[in-house]
Amino acid sequence: MKVAVSGKGGVGKTLVSAGLAYALARKGFKTIAIDADPSPNLALTLGLSPEESRRIVPISENKALIESKTGTGYSGVYRLTFTVDDIVRDYSVRTPFNVNLIVMGTIRSPGSGCTCPANAVVRSLLHHLVVERDEAVIVDMEAGVEHVGRGTAQHVDHMIVVVNANLKSLEIGRHIHDLAVKAGMRRVSVVANKIENETQQAVVESYALEHGLKILNVIPYDAKIAEAELRGETPLKYASESTAMKAIETLCERLLMENA
Ligand SMILES: Nc1ncnc2c1ncn2[C@@H]1O[C@H](COP(=O)(O)OP(=O)(O)OP(=O)(O)O)[C@@H](O)[C@H]1O
Ligand SMILES: [Mg+2]
Repeated sequence: MKVAVSGKGGVGKTLVSAGLAYALARKGFKTIAIDADPSPNLALTLGLSPEESRRIVPISENKALIESKTGTGYSGVYRLTFTVDDIVRDYSVRTPFNVNLIVMGTIRSPGSGCTCPANAVVRSLLHHLVVERDEAVIVDMEAGVEHVGRGTAQHVDHMIVVVNANLKSLEIGRHIHDLAVKAGMRRVSVVANKIENETQQAVVESYALEHGLKILNVIPYDAKIAEAELRGETPLKYASESTAMKAIETLCERLLMENA
């Protein structure tokens, strides 16, 4: 199962991505989490220490790797065909809850005019992970899908757009939803996160109804998650006692069911 997670800044994309990856790994799936946010922080949420997280060089910034894949020895000329399966083997990082992490760094869209070698490598790596691999793959993305080319987007099983109960995140969520559908993603649904009460849930539900969005699950605001984050701990440590983490597990089961 390949799942992409997007939404406005701060809505909880990284928590949902980490929680889904955790739930899949617990169910026995070989799981790869991809941090495709230009300001990556999935490593911490997956339980690596700040030191371990800092040591990870994003693929797009790994000059030696990019050069070894695309270099021709001629300046301005680079190779377009190279293998990427070995990058998964050599550069994925094992995290404490059995999820393998790959930190991509910045991925630019085909329309951005960026034809740099680093972009060629991260784009083919993303394509490889989504289209060719058997593992469960969760992609924590920035707000938007522009950088996911159509050939990759069509193979994403589910696109999750995370929203909170406020108009800005809902409007941005709707925009991302529409872009994802246009990009050819097959199932695009909304997950409401940090929901504190019934009024907030009703706000998201009526917006979804009005705009034809499907809500796959509602994740409550959970002080345990916020407190863990304050202490610099991974929220995954509290998976068995956190209402938010339980809701993410239910979300995972729904995704698996829809994908069966
Ligand atoms: N259900 C929840 N209950 C309580 N706190 C939450 C919940 N979901 C997320 N948070 C907190 O909200 C903050 C933002 O979450 P997170 O980093 O997952 O969002 P994001 O969308 O990935 O942000 P960014 O756009 O910066 O990458 C974090 O401090 C996180 O602990
Ligand atoms: Mg994030």
